[in-house]
Amino acid sequence: MDYTLREIYSKERIDREVQRLAREISGDYEGKELLVLVILKGAFIFAADLLRKFTIPATVEFLEISSYCGMDSTGKVKMVRDARFSVQGRDVLLVEDIIDQGICLSALVQDLRQRNPASLKVCTLIDNRKRRTQPIEPDYAGIREVCGFLVGYGLDLDQRYRELPAVYEVVPTGNSDDVPQ
Ligand code: IMP
Ligand code: MG
Repeated sequence: MDYTLREIYSKERIDREVQRLAREISGDYEGKELLVLVILKGAFIFAADLLRKFTIPATVEFLEISSYCGMDSTGKVKMVRDARFSVQGRDVLLVEDIIDQGICLSALVQDLRQRNPASLKVCTLIDNRKRRTQPIEPDYAGIREVCGFLVGYGLDLDQRYRELPAVYEVVPTGNSDDVPQ
């Protein structure tokens, strides 16, 4: 596929949204210690920036969902990296890069709920509502907008572009049948 990258969310815009989210979350959890669960790989940059703007104490763990993303035949979330920590009785904040269909996240939320956290909320940098198929709403969202396929600031296209400091839309210049979904 031939494509170009068009910047849609600047470094400055992202920084403002991250600052706003950190303030809101820090206020909501005042007096508590948050367990932040970062969903790899995409959310690692967002989570690193968000955490450094918190004014509350937090501990961090990482989760990775298998590439086919969703559920295996037993109906459980298939996690690549998991279970070395307990969520029981903890105030848990799941940090995601982008919610699209909502399949990954709703499976993960169902799984974590069964493990008895004191509370469980979801924070995403981008809430792309275009293709949502699951009834899942993030509690905190940096940018709520319908958009195309995005890269940068942790988001990838075939593992590339995560390092870009802004977020770009992938704009096909050739055969549009190949637009990533
Ligand atoms: P969902 O299950 O459809 O919500 O997919 C969410 C996951 O797919 C995210 O955690 C991302 O890893 C990936 N994803 C969804 N949309 C995009 C995008 O526009 N760019 C890069 N990755 C995306
Ligand atoms: Mg992801």
